Amino acid sequence: MNTNLSSFAPSQVETDCLVVVVLDRTDLGAEKDRAAKSKPAPEIASSDAPVHDAAKDVLASGEVTGKPFEITLLHHPAGLKAKRLLLLGGGKSKTFSASDLRKLSGAAVRTLKGKSIRNFAFVVPETAIPAQEGVRAIVEGAFVGTFEPDYYKSDRKNDQKIDTLTIVAQGDQKPLQNALDAARIVAESQNFTRDLVNEPSNRMTPAILAERTRKMAAEVGLGCEILGPDKIKELKMGAFWGVAQGSDEPPALIVLRYNPAGTPANIHLGLVGKGITFDTGGISIKPSDGMEKMKYDMAGGATMIGTMRALALLKPKVKVTAIILATENMPSGKAQKPGDVHIAMSGKSIEIINTDAEGRLVLADGLTYARQLGCTHLVDAATLTGAVVVALGYVNAGIFASDDQMYDRFAQAMKQAGEKMWRLPLDDEYKELIKSNIADMANAGTRWGGAIFAAMFLKEFAEDTPWIHLDIAGTAWMEDQKPWIAKGPSGIALRSLVEFVKSWSA
Ligand code: BES
Ligand code: MN
Ligand code: ZN
Repeated sequence: MNTNLSSFAPSQVETDCLVVVVLDRTDLGAEKDRAAKSKPAPEIASSDAPVHDAAKDVLASGEVTGKPFEITLLHHPAGLKAKRLLLLGGGKSKTFSASDLRKLSGAAVRTLKGKSIRNFAFVVPETAIPAQEGVRAIVEGAFVGTFEPDYYKSDRKNDQKIDTLTIVAQGDQKPLQNALDAARIVAESQNFTRDLVNEPSNRMTPAILAERTRKMAAEVGLGCEILGPDKIKELKMGAFWGVAQGSDEPPALIVLRYNPAGTPANIHLGLVGKGITFDTGGISIKPSDGMEKMKYDMAGGATMIGTMRALALLKPKVKVTAIILATENMPSGKAQKPGDVHIAMSGKSIEIINTDAEGRLVLADGLTYARQLGCTHLVDAATLTGAVVVALGYVNAGIFASDDQMYDRFAQAMKQAGEKMWRLPLDDEYKELIKSNIADMANAGTRWGGAIFAAMFLKEFAEDTPWIHLDIAGTAWMEDQKPWIAKGPSGIALRSLVEFVKSWSA
């Protein structure tokens, strides 16, 4: 999809479809009588008079309310150079945010490409949202909207795609163009991640994931090192190996390095991703119902890979290393068994209670390795627990932080990125959960507080390095399609991670 900016008045833009946002100005707080309350007060979020004229009749008809994702499509709008005018409902004007705008843009893409329209122009709404943020939201939302998961359908509708998106915004174009360029990089990286996550496990083995990463790294100029079984054993990654030993597919430890000139000397961020390319549960095998979805158990790793892609192109001045632990979790004659004890890379011993709690094992060694490489701050991302889905559903990802300052910084990034995560606790009292009779800790225990248990386990390996853990089990895969996004991989957390890393730039 090509993207460009236009400073023309909306009515003067030549396009197959001009998209303007319609907001509902009904103020429920202020209106006293019921009749006024129920009467919608839709208003076009642009001051361009010809657009208002073109939409006058349909607005007067009462058909348009401005409710979220409402679609009103007019052909041959009088007085406009555009062939069509799409009035896109944006919801209540009082609460309208960049996050809403991002979704509207995705919805515009999905609506228009479904009608085989190949180009459109989105008018940055005149609201309290600064124009640069508006441009960013529209670009990010549009790219998120383009993604379709139907890779292997022979009747894939390849012709239903947007060729050109024009963003219409008045004012100094230079900062707007910069916002557009940066948003594009982030959004394309998010789709790169979704691409990896969408692949089935027979087409995304640890070796294939490593190869795809190596290729990307060469293209964008990242350092990339791929360590195989021998190296993993040599590094004494007993926990990672414990999972990997059960699979015929060799594991891969993927290391991506970004270290530009002029970075702050005392900061080295470490991004650690769970890359289970398929999670059968191992000997503690999962029920077959829904098991096919466990191809997305490498989403945390794919998120870190996509994040590194974005960083290489955005070029913030901060040193970042990503570590992705890629393996399958399989039952076999070589597989680890409940009751087995492994010595992790850090030297701590782990009793395996449940082989399906494999993510924390691979991450444990990933965190230790990151510390050994000198990382001063750690973030991990993982589809780690079903329990986080019980706690937060499909709306918020779970976020854990050992350091309040680091959390505040991440929370700021989340807000900028328009991603939802909810903080869960790491109190010392929960330490009880990870006790083992035979070893330093157990990898599983009671089912209560399961997401916290997993986080407490990881904390033992982050040790005193400030650390954030993102449990994206419920949010990395869209269970249903939404107006702005297809069903399938979401690419959650990448935008927040990029924003977070940028906040450390010199
Ligand atoms: N990959 C799963 C977690 C998961 C569940 C991801 C649902 C996406 C959707 C993880 O490896 C797992 O199996 N966790 C177990 C841990 C338990 C055995 C302690 C779980 O959550 O059931
Ligand atoms: Mn598992
Ligand atoms: Zn898993």
